[in-house]
Amino acid sequence: MVTGHRHFDPFFVLVLPGTLTNYDETYRLNDPCRAKIGTHRYTTSMPKLVWFNGEISSLENATVPAADHAHLYGDGLFEGIRIYGRKVFKLDQHLRRLYDGCRFLGIPMKWSEPELKRILLDTCMKADIEDGYIRLNVTRGTGLGLDPRAVKTDANVMIMINTLALYTPEMYEAGLDVVTTSFRVIPADALDPRLKCIGRYASNIMAKREANMKDAGEGLMLNGAGMVAECTGDNIFIIRDGVLRTPHPSAGILQGITRDSVIEMAKEDGIPVKEDFFTIYDITSADEAFLTGTAAEVIRMRSLDGRIIGDGDMGPITRRLTERFRLATQQGTPFTPTTV
Ligand SMILES: Cc1ncc(COP(=O)(O)O)c(C=O)c1O
Repeated sequence: MVTGHRHFDPFFVLVLPGTLTNYDETYRLNDPCRAKIGTHRYTTSMPKLVWFNGEISSLENATVPAADHAHLYGDGLFEGIRIYGRKVFKLDQHLRRLYDGCRFLGIPMKWSEPELKRILLDTCMKADIEDGYIRLNVTRGTGLGLDPRAVKTDANVMIMINTLALYTPEMYEAGLDVVTTSFRVIPADALDPRLKCIGRYASNIMAKREANMKDAGEGLMLNGAGMVAECTGDNIFIIRDGVLRTPHPSAGILQGITRDSVIEMAKEDGIPVKEDFFTIYDITSADEAFLTGTAAEVIRMRSLDGRIIGDGDMGPITRRLTERFRLATQQGTPFTPTTV
């Protein structure tokens, strides 16, 4: 088993800043993988800010209304976005997904997509952060009562500038031991999985809890038909005989932005890619497997339910795509005054 991760819970770091250690501070300074390709410059104390409906405060002092509709009912959307070397990675894609979700949920946004982009980049500039993690939340607004008509305010918008590292550098090389959890993803015909809706995460958190109890690095979730969907916070890829496979969006997965990037890179490298349906048998008989997500980045999977995948070492396609992804992270939207 990979050890060392079980005392770390990113949610705790997000809500209780300063009380728990974040791998960003403790490990990234010595991260050999990152230092090798030179994509990251580090600062030891990064300012953590919250922009909420136009007001900026420190993370410690930031508050949200008690009757915020996501706080009461999970009625909102979020994006987790990374900053690499003072550039926001895949910002347009994250904003697109957020605004598509707002349209679907019927949450009118006071700020247009380009306006929010500008606000977000300005907030990053104010935080003066080198590498970090942005949590962008939009909720329907403030009001007690499930009925959306109870909400009399504009949407609440929050931009939190923080840091987040889920895994140690050693774990990226060693790979994650994953377990299949008993929690199924919400069926696509109940709630469209493309909605990165706050409310849907209760089952993912239960699945993560189950994985933690088994001392696993991640928990795999199946769909109602028993087909592989995704992990609690990341998408899954397998490789067999040189073909890269990942569950089709209709399996009930979040169509991850990291997933899309990896598919694009694989295609550029001439690796055949299939978005289809498979079971845990296909994972345990794969040559290689890895997970993708903004928070997790690209991380190899070493085993599923105690069964080692492939020969137990990092496979060539996983290594290639991991390195390509790390290089790609240099290509974000800069927030220096001249380029914003
Ligand atoms: C359930 C789930 N699947 C997949 C992902 C990966 O998506 P992305 O690459 O857009 O971060 C996430 C990210 O938060 C997630 O929560």
